[in-house]
Amino acid sequence: MFYKLAQKVMFQMDPELAHNIAIGSLKMTGNNLLNCFYRQQVKSAPVTCMGLTFPNPVGLAAGLDKDGESIDAFHAMGFGHVEVGTVTPRPQAGNDQPRLFRLKPAKGIINRMGFNNKGVDNLVRNLMAKKSDIMVGVNIGKNKDTPVEQGKDDYLICMEKVYQYASYIAVNISSPNTPGLRSMQYGELLDDLLSSIKAKQTELAAKHGKYVPVALKIAPDLTAEEISAIADSLVNNQFDGVIATNTTLNRDNVVGLQHAEEMGGLSGKPLADLSTQVIKQLAICLQGKIPIIGVGGINSAADALAKFDAGSTMVQIYTGFIYQGPKLVDQIARAYSAK
Ligand SMILES: Cc1cc2nc3c(=O)[nH]c(=O)nc-3n(C[C@H](O)[C@H](O)[C@H](O)COP(=O)(O)O)c2cc1C
Repeated sequence: MFYKLAQKVMFQMDPELAHNIAIGSLKMTGNNLLNCFYRQQVKSAPVTCMGLTFPNPVGLAAGLDKDGESIDAFHAMGFGHVEVGTVTPRPQAGNDQPRLFRLKPAKGIINRMGFNNKGVDNLVRNLMAKKSDIMVGVNIGKNKDTPVEQGKDDYLICMEKVYQYASYIAVNISSPNTPGLRSMQYGELLDDLLSSIKAKQTELAAKHGKYVPVALKIAPDLTAEEISAIADSLVNNQFDGVIATNTTLNRDNVVGLQHAEEMGGLSGKPLADLSTQVIKQLAICLQGKIPIIGVGGINSAADALAKFDAGSTMVQIYTGFIYQGPKLVDQIARAYSAK
């Protein structure tokens, strides 16, 4: 009820302005009684993934709370985990505005934000300041002006800084909005990145006496052969998880809609089937060796069940959360526990 009202007002505003107001308000109310407007008891539905136990299998996908400013608010909403980021070593402004578009009739969003974030040091401060004990994944990326050939160094810098504050670390090489980033999903660049991350994880685990799982986040715009090659590389490098998928460049499901031709990544309902297909393909290749976190177009409990049926151990939501509100978390947790 409260969310429907808030959404009515927000959807009259420019999408990025609405986003900034929402994150600012959640930041202020996250750990005080004002969170009664969105606090909810979510059905307990524990799940083990990447060696960690989560209270339910529904996470907030990366990109909504890039700087980890409102973690306690998402905890109050009952999320099983929140993935903050993508964060880069240095702060960066991202692409020029406008860069966020609602495709309301399709329940979709197109964004070309371009990793706008306040940098990894600021994120670490926010992680240290959070009050709740919610599981927090930290999604890391590279700065736009770091050449792809040196991109690996950016991931290692971020990893080193966030390691002891993260429940898990997500390596994002699948945003369509950082030029060249997706090229890291293939061949030697991929193997080199994954083996360097694994070596850094081993080093940091010994240093901190704590094993923090690492997961790779992949795009939906991959052929079956490319998915299979990524799966092999994940297994060879003993990665702990894979997050599938990021947004798509494909526009087949939104032809003719307002904003459909905007550059950037499409998320929400029009992405659902594509992402489920990638998860199915991954599950066949991985044979249960590495858990899959399914994300892309979940707008209802039934959409989430399709992701579990395809082989996901947990799910994440972003666009569906914008269109449906916090109640979607509880709906999915209930459907999961009734499975
Ligand atoms: C506005 C916006 C910003 C996003 N930023 C990021 C990001 O910084 N890092 C990332 O890994 N994914 C990012 N994503 C992708 C989401 O995490 C998710 O993978 C994708 O939107 C598909 O899920 P959905 O259909 O539930 O939104 C972003 C998505 C949106 C809509």
